[in-house]
Amino acid sequence: MPASVIDGNKISQEILEEVSQEVASLKGPKPTIAFVRVGEDPASVFYVGKKQKVAAQVGIESKLNLFPKSCTQAELCAAIDVLNADPAVHGILVQAPLPDEMNEQEVFNRVDPRKDVDGFCRDNLGKLCQEDDSGFVACTPAGIVELLKRSDVNTEGAHVVVVGRSLIVGKPAALLMIKKALPGNATVTVCHSRTKDLGAITRQGDIVIAAIGRPGLITGDMIKPGAVVIDVGINRVEDATAKKGYRLVGDVVFEEAAEVASQITPVPGGVGPMTVAMLMSNTVKACKSLQGEQSLAGKL
Ligand code: GUN
Repeated sequence: MPASVIDGNKISQEILEEVSQEVASLKGPKPTIAFVRVGEDPASVFYVGKKQKVAAQVGIESKLNLFPKSCTQAELCAAIDVLNADPAVHGILVQAPLPDEMNEQEVFNRVDPRKDVDGFCRDNLGKLCQEDDSGFVACTPAGIVELLKRSDVNTEGAHVVVVGRSLIVGKPAALLMIKKALPGNATVTVCHSRTKDLGAITRQGDIVIAAIGRPGLITGDMIKPGAVVIDVGINRVEDATAKKGYRLVGDVVFEEAAEVASQITPVPGGVGPMTVAMLMSNTVKACKSLQGEQSLAGKL
């Protein structure tokens, strides 16, 4: 295996250590994040639980707001309004996916942009487009940038191929890579489910970001020798030999791609832990900026 493995667990721990120190140095109330979860989707239960655990580890308070799958979008939005108005809440995260009957983007847009630590609302997506750093960047693409930065991957003039066009990963990742600063300044191609001859395009990538949610779609022959491969996919595939009856695999066939790439992220242990670390970082940013606003208002 010529590729070196980018260790997301290790890099996320470094970031969490930095966040922890920042939290400890803050004056005033502890940063607080409110989680909103609808229904009992096992993956959502797991991820929200994990985020709460990590928050506690770095000294961030968290509150869990649970709603039955039968709740209406209006009820959910009313609850978000209450959290928006609560000065003790600095960050709000509505765990996706939401029930099919709801318009997910409308719900994300309801979150006060100053508390939108997920970076999913239109204001924050707009700020990302405008390269306005006062906004929040979605945690997974922000985590990808940190992985590249801390693994000394130079994006200047590189051809980055993003596979996937979701609002949560693909689109913001592409915007970050074309940003007029490093890590950015890349040439970006975005591929998706309708792309013809995907391999012909991914083979041009100096960096391939696979975020399409299809297990093993990217095989070794689709990677250029020496490329950097970032696998965002976390897919459950049945495995009778595994204790839980399934195992997690990425969008990339790791063993094959690792034979040709120079650096590659594993699944699990690559991008996943970075998403959680960046959420903590965003929550501290939200807390600091809201407290700054409050103290300014107090002086006026
Ligand atoms: N579901 C999968 N990833 C995410 C994420 O980053 N944020 C939220 N809110 N839901 C998700």
